[in-house]
Amino acid sequence: MERILEPELMDDPEQAHAYAHADFSEANGLFLKLFAHYFPRHTPKRAIDLGCGPGEITLSFAECYANCYILGIDGAKAMLHFAYQNLYSRPQLKDRVEFRHVRLPAHSLSRNYDTLLSNSLLHHLPDPQLLWHEIRRLGHAGAAVLVMDLERPANPDEAQALVIRYAAQEPEILRRDFCNSLCAAFTANEIQAQLTQAGLVGFQVEKVSDRHLAIYGRL
Ligand SMILES: C[S@@+](CC[C@H](N)C(=O)[O-])C[C@H]1O[C@@H](n2cnc3c(N)ncnc32)[C@H](O)[C@@H]1O
Repeated sequence: MERILEPELMDDPEQAHAYAHADFSEANGLFLKLFAHYFPRHTPKRAIDLGCGPGEITLSFAECYANCYILGIDGAKAMLHFAYQNLYSRPQLKDRVEFRHVRLPAHSLSRNYDTLLSNSLLHHLPDPQLLWHEIRRLGHAGAAVLVMDLERPANPDEAQALVIRYAAQEPEILRRDFCNSLCAAFTANEIQAQLTQAGLVGFQVEKVSDRHLAIYGRL
């Protein structure tokens, strides 16, 4: 199946509400587990979460790494509304977590990060090089990078089967978005080619669930 683009930003309030209230604990937990597994000796001090959405991974990362400041950025105000709410409900994190309305490319941000995270942003981008370029620009030499995203299924029937398996009970708008996201995602081979083009040598692409790929390495 060819890639079918979906809208880049999740700026529709109803869509953001459905996403922010869905249960992504399995995928979010997998992300955190993978980070600890891939970078067991890394101590994050300044992290950035690109396309943070409602900020669940941003906040959980701060909870896991008590000496880390983390900035979550997103281009959609509708999503950040929920990130601010989620931070408000965890006041113990307010000195170490910040959310900012920034759309990549983030010219306002400088090369300042030892840890770069992104979950489920890549498939939103018409040009995936935007993410790889920004990761190179924002990270220190040696920074730890973990990107996780959906993997595009082979055909629409496989996409529908995943929607039924994982989102059957979710509102229609979330099922639609999940299906669109699967169809907009990349394959492992496509991502490998993107990394080569971006000069991210030594980065690995690994299939980590029936619908997720992890991309990780050090700058
Ligand atoms: C599927 S959500 C993932 C949210 C979060 N990372 C998570 O795992 O729950 C993708 C997010 O990327 C944001 N996004 C898309 N293009 C962006 C860009 N160019 N700059 C910043 N954020 C972007 C969207 O607005 C959306 O909130």
